[in-house]
Amino acid sequence: MPFTNAFKMIKFRFLLLIVVINSISIVNCIEPISIGIAAGVGAIGFGYFKSQTYCRLYECCDDRSIPGNMTKLYESLSQTLFGQHMVQQHVMPALVAHLKSDSPSRKPLVMSFHGTPGTGKSFVADQIAQALYVEGAKSKYVHKYLGRADFAHPGRINEYKERINREVREFIQDCPRSLFIFDEVDKMPIGVFDTLTSLVDYAANVKGTDYTKAIFIFLSNTAGVRISDHLAELMKKGTQREDTRLSDFEEMLKMSAYNMEGGLKKTNMIEAHVIDHYIPFLALEKAHIVQCVEAEFQRWHIRPKQQDVNTVVNNAVNYDPKYSMFATSGCKTIEKKVAMVVNELRAP
Ligand SMILES: *[C@@H]1O[C@H](CO)[C@@H](O)[C@H](O)[C@H]1NC(C)=O
Repeated sequence: MPFTNAFKMIKFRFLLLIVVINSISIVNCIEPISIGIAAGVGAIGFGYFKSQTYCRLYECCDDRSIPGNMTKLYESLSQTLFGQHMVQQHVMPALVAHLKSDSPSRKPLVMSFHGTPGTGKSFVADQIAQALYVEGAKSKYVHKYLGRADFAHPGRINEYKERINREVREFIQDCPRSLFIFDEVDKMPIGVFDTLTSLVDYAANVKGTDYTKAIFIFLSNTAGVRISDHLAELMKKGTQREDTRLSDFEEMLKMSAYNMEGGLKKTNMIEAHVIDHYIPFLALEKAHIVQCVEAEFQRWHIRPKQQDVNTVVNNAVNYDPKYSMFATSGCKTIEKKVAMVVNELRAP
């Protein structure tokens, strides 16, 4: 971008100017304190200059680029996330508490999302990014890793550990308010996060870098089936889905993550209690799929007929063989299916 280059030139000349001013002071035998002051004023001036120019247009690690707009998150979740009352009840407050400027937090916020595909884990992680950063998930402070694409080979575990360790350090040094999203954690080799534990654990506040502002989110399908089993069991006993509580699931999730295959298996992250919240994403039922479909039509600014909604729901949904109640792919395929119907509606 030409403007960026121009800006770099200005920055370079400005620094040069400071150097020149300082050299003049040396020539004139002015005492070192003035040189220090001149350099200091120069640095502060440059910081101010940058915040007033560059950072108004481009992303910086500051309040403008990282507003942490929880109203926005609340609104977008309530309009687009269905059937996940525990997410609403626990993820929002966890973020709000973490983002408070007077928060006495001594470690980063670490959350682990569990659930079958299509329940909204990745969707929620993206919306968190969207609310925290002006640039959303595209922000240079949001770092997303995919188990299958980035960490597929168990034989390269040491390389992966080294990469995670190095990148997390570098990115947090660059901006303490970084967000790390590890997707498909169940596809990652065992032990991949072991070096991360010491960074994230508050006992280790390493070399002047502030690790306490960062947020880590782990997403895995692990325990998805167990969540469904547990939910079905609770419902059979007469508990309404919406009345199930985090405490009904938390311990089970922790145990499952620790014992089932994947990046969290036998990890010292769980042993060291580094993960603050285990959040279950419940398998969706037909009523939630209907909500997803209606919301998707709304995104197209179309008020659908009941018949169109039914068409999509009946086409898109398969139910689990065990309970015949939970949609096996959740709301995942809805977007494409609705787009098809919209196309047909709009065809002359
Ligand atoms: C936060 O988001 C809400 C809803 O999207 C918006 O109305 C509001 O202006 C935002 N606030 C800031 C400070 O950006």
